[in-house]
Amino acid sequence: MLNQVCYRTIGLKYPSSLSTYLSIGGYKVWKKILKEKPDPINIINEVKLSGLRGRGGAGFLTGLKWSFISKSIPGQKYVVCNSDEGEPGTFKDRDILRYNPHQLIEGMAIAAYVIGATVGYNYIRGEFYEPISVIEKAVNESLNAGLLGKNIDNSNIDFNLYNVYGAGAYICGEETALMESIEGKKGQPRFKPPFPANFGVYGRPTNINNTETYASIPVILEKGGKWHLELGKPNNGGCKIFSVSGHVNKPGNYEIPLGTPFIELLNMAGGVKNGKRLKAVIPGGSSAPVLPAHIVNNLSMDYDSISKAGSMLGSGAVIIMDESTCMVNALYRISHFYADESCGQCSPCREGTSWLYKILSRIVHGHGNVSDISLLDSVASNICGRTICALGDAAAMPVMGFIKHFRSEFEDYIKNNNNRL
Ligand SMILES: Cc1cc2nc3c(=O)[nH]c(=O)nc-3n(C[C@H](O)[C@H](O)[C@H](O)COP(=O)(O)O)c2cc1C
Repeated sequence: MLNQVCYRTIGLKYPSSLSTYLSIGGYKVWKKILKEKPDPINIINEVKLSGLRGRGGAGFLTGLKWSFISKSIPGQKYVVCNSDEGEPGTFKDRDILRYNPHQLIEGMAIAAYVIGATVGYNYIRGEFYEPISVIEKAVNESLNAGLLGKNIDNSNIDFNLYNVYGAGAYICGEETALMESIEGKKGQPRFKPPFPANFGVYGRPTNINNTETYASIPVILEKGGKWHLELGKPNNGGCKIFSVSGHVNKPGNYEIPLGTPFIELLNMAGGVKNGKRLKAVIPGGSSAPVLPAHIVNNLSMDYDSISKAGSMLGSGAVIIMDESTCMVNALYRISHFYADESCGQCSPCREGTSWLYKILSRIVHGHGNVSDISLLDSVASNICGRTICALGDAAAMPVMGFIKHFRSEFEDYIKNNNNRL
């Protein structure tokens, strides 16, 4: 079944309005919390039971992440939402902002209550002009309705939510670069540890989650952690929004239970365009290793199955490639992105991403050597795990994946000295 969690207002009249959200039981959980002030540990336990894993890329267990910040730590704490949505192929979070902003606001308010934060920041990709206008309106609506602000409904609970706008740098989606950016500094990742749970925005304990993660929370607490877990599979609870793009007839966002067979998702997206055959799929955004058709045809779309198949679910961006796709050019394009977006702070990433791009560039311009394939592999494996943040891995993993599965295509391309640009 489609759209059971974050997209449940899609299809309703005025999906983003407060009245629509209230009509489906929205803010019920938040109002109950304001009234009953439950022990945060009970909420954390329910989120743990739900099997919710972070929807931003790494798939870390949300309940566990929340448990790292103790409500009893005195002083200012923050909740931050990552709506930067920079991973190529991903376009799901903007539709939460656009069609179900109140559910996100409610999810952030609940998280703030759990960790004892009174301020939240929603860091949004600056180019999202229309989604920004929708979420701004929604925040004002909930403020005016007495659902946010100071001493909300005489509960002694404060929560103020601010939207913050990025300027389109991919690195600002990395959680600590994002926090630097919120503070008005250059968006460069911090060394970890300390992690945001101890040293986040302005050096204070901070919980950061993706837009889809927070937006899942009200439904989980309304219907129960068990209900959510059983939507998906053990250790892969709930639904996931997959942004399907590339060579399909109906590209778009599909919110489906985790564990749905890939073939079902492909059929929902109308199948491969022009009756062509499927060649390969990038299952989790451009940083996830590509998988050839014979593997994805039997793949179940969940974190554990995709990881076992040698890739990752990542942000859920499923890029479909038909039989006409040139894998060398596809990788060349991807490597350009990462070389361009490296922040330049650490050498393995700054130098390594541009070496990868330069080697691929000489291959596609007809000056490659077969030994360049092993050189690419070696540069990529020397970046992995040696950088301040995971952008280095994000650049290296696609290179290793393309070579692992399509080495012979790279060899043919070079041998034929084929300039196909
Ligand atoms: C280079 C880079 C870019 C990232 N971009 C995003 C992004 O656009 N959106 C996002 O939610 N997470 C992004 N992440 C992951 C975040 O650092 C972080 O893990 C995430 O916001 C945590 O939320 P979650 O636990 O709900 O997934 C990025 C990570 C890296 C290394």
